[in-house]
Amino acid sequence: MSMIKFFFVVISLTTVIAVDLPRNWKVCSRSLPEEEFSKCLDEAARNAVVSLARGLKSFKILPLEPLLVNSVKIGGSQGSVSLRQEYRNIKLYGLTKNLELYNHHLELDNGCLLTSDSYNPQVDFVADYKLDGKVLLLPVRGSGKSNITMYGLKSHNELACEKYEKNGETYLKIKKYSVTFDPEKVKLNFDNLFDGDKAIATQLNTFMNENADLLFKELQAPYEETFSQVFTKLSNEVFSRVPMNKIFPPN
Ligand SMILES: *[C@@H]1O[C@H](CO)[C@@H](O)[C@H](O)[C@H]1NC(C)=O
Repeated sequence: MSMIKFFFVVISLTTVIAVDLPRNWKVCSRSLPEEEFSKCLDEAARNAVVSLARGLKSFKILPLEPLLVNSVKIGGSQGSVSLRQEYRNIKLYGLTKNLELYNHHLELDNGCLLTSDSYNPQVDFVADYKLDGKVLLLPVRGSGKSNITMYGLKSHNELACEKYEKNGETYLKIKKYSVTFDPEKVKLNFDNLFDGDKAIATQLNTFMNENADLLFKELQAPYEETFSQVFTKLSNEVFSRVPMNKIFPPN
C-alpha cells in the first residue's frame, strides 16, 4: 500500500469512528419534562463552554480564552459614521468568564433548532486596528492597538441544524448559527489615533466613547457574522464526531 493510500485509510477511519462527549460534560435526557430539560441544557452548555476555555485537542477545538479571530473589515457606510474599520489579530477575552446561559430550547422533531440566551459581564475585543473616515463630521484616522469592551453583554443564539445519517447513527450539523449582541455599555480604546498625536488622540477617544453606541452599531453586524462563523465551526467539531443520541439521549 502506498503511503498516500495508507494515510487516506487512516484519515477515513478516524472520521467514521463515533466518539463520546468528554467525560466531564453533562448530558441531558430528552425524556425530562420540558422545563427541567431546558435547565439541564443551560448547565450542560455552560459547563461545556467553560471547559473549552483551554481548548479540546481531541475535538480540534482551540482555546476560547482568549478566542482568536483572523480579521474583521467594515466598509464605511453613508450614515453619521462613515468610517472604514479594519481589525486584525483579534483576541476575545471573557467569553467563558462568569458566563450565564439560559432559555435553552431544543427542537428535533419539527425541523432542527437549538436556541438560547447568554450573558457575559465583560468581553474585551482586543485587536490591531486601522480606522479611516469620519464620525459625525469629525475626521478619524489611525492604526495601532485597540480594545473594545462590552459590558453586560446579552446575546441571543439560534443554531439551525439538520440531521443526517452516518454509519447507522444520526448526527447533527449546524447549518447556521445566528447571534445578536446587545451590550449594556461599550467602551472603546484606540491607541495611536492620528499616528500618536497625544492631545488629539485623547480627545478623540473621549469623543468616540461618547458616541460608542453609534460606532458599535457599525461594528455589530460584521462582528456577529464573524462570531457566527467561528461558533458554527466549533459546534460542528463536536456534532460531527458525537452522534445525536449521545449528546441528547432519548432516555
Ligand atoms: C481592555 O479594556 C478593559 C476595560 O478597560 C480592561 O479590563 C482590559 O484589561 C483591557 N485589555 C487589554 C489587553 O488592554
